Amino acid sequence: MKKPLKVTGIVVGSLLCIVLVLVAYISFFFPKVSPPSKITINATPEMVKRGEYLANHVSVCMDCHSKRDFTKFSGPITPGTLGKGGDKFDREGSGVPGTFYARNITPTNLKNWTDGEIYRIIATGVRKNGEPIFPLMPYLAYGNMDPEDVKSIIAYLRTLTPLEGNYPDAQFDFPMNLIVRTIPKDPTPSVRPDSKDTLKYGEYLVKIAACADCHTPMEKGKPLPGMRFAGGFEFKFPNGNIVRSANLTPSHETGIGLWTEEVFLAKFEIYRDSIAKNLPVSPSDFNTVMPWTMYAGMTDGDLKSIYRYLTTIDPVEHTVEKFSIQK
Ligand code: HEC
Ligand code: HEC
Repeated sequence: MKKPLKVTGIVVGSLLCIVLVLVAYISFFFPKVSPPSKITINATPEMVKRGEYLANHVSVCMDCHSKRDFTKFSGPITPGTLGKGGDKFDREGSGVPGTFYARNITPTNLKNWTDGEIYRIIATGVRKNGEPIFPLMPYLAYGNMDPEDVKSIIAYLRTLTPLEGNYPDAQFDFPMNLIVRTIPKDPTPSVRPDSKDTLKYGEYLVKIAACADCHTPMEKGKPLPGMRFAGGFEFKFPNGNIVRSANLTPSHETGIGLWTEEVFLAKFEIYRDSIAKNLPVSPSDFNTVMPWTMYAGMTDGDLKSIYRYLTTIDPVEHTVEKFSIQK
């Protein structure tokens, strides 16, 4: 072999080795989270009630893990599908780097999971079999939840009506199949603040509802710096129409800075009405992924706390065109 060729061969060979070692390292040693804890949850009726509230109206687990009916405004849950899963996320429809399904979280699927295993997936994004899931499910935010709230959600999940529903395993494109392994981390739980401290409590609710996940514009899965809550994150409907999240910062011109508490509350309260909860929309009409009908179940006190917190974040000037129709 000629010398330059030999050198090139050695260089390419060494690079290949480094890549292989790296791939093997990430595949074997990640996700790096602790094993499931050995907790046993002694569910009380209060816990189940709190869990039902959080799962349906704050952290909205049931929003992703049920069938949503987008022939109606805001896609309310199709009756009889609570916790059944099955919604598909892929590159074409949702712009995610792979194909995966929201899973069945009724006892049909979770009956063989220990409380510790369910705790671990909620708070770290690692499944019973040790495999990581894509952070579309906001598990990094749930990692901040007060452990008592996580346990209440688990207590509630155990009471769901068992439903059939089994979906293929997630497939990630390269290099997301490796990156996704590096995202889960051990939880950093907080203590649920006293609800009388409305500012702190509002901050807690916004965190465990992961409002920022939808309301912060991202590029390649990374939130744009300085744009927290500034809106503009795009969601595509199957017919090509696009809805973009709103600017929730207190900017007077482009955010919600001129909204009074009454205006804010009224936006949610409309959807407490059973007719407004089931408003048919034609495919060319404005529709949204914002789960209004589920958040409408929050108490006035909790909504007021969220409003209070949102008034204290940094205003960002950012105009968002909320809806555009596929031409
Ligand atoms: C934004 C959508 C979304 C939200 C909100 C969400 N999840 Fe998920 N969840 C998913 C997706 C998607 C998967 C499966 C991902 C995969 O297969 O890689 C999943 C997986 C799971 C699993 C794993 C089941 C299995 O068989 O592996 C459990 C349990 C779960 N979620 C519970 C919850 C709970 C409890 C909450 C609320 C605290 C919640 N999820 C909120 C989208 C969501
Ligand atoms: C699944 C994504 C998603 C989540 C989660 C989400 N939003 Fe939204 N939100 C949107 C989108 C998209 C819009 C714009 C369309 C609309 O008005 O419905 C919006 C609009 C809004 C508006 C209307 C603002 C305006 O200018 O009209 C408010 C208020 C709001 N969201 C508050 C919240 C709060 C508070 C949370 C957390 C508790 C939250 N959102 C969580 C997607 C989301």
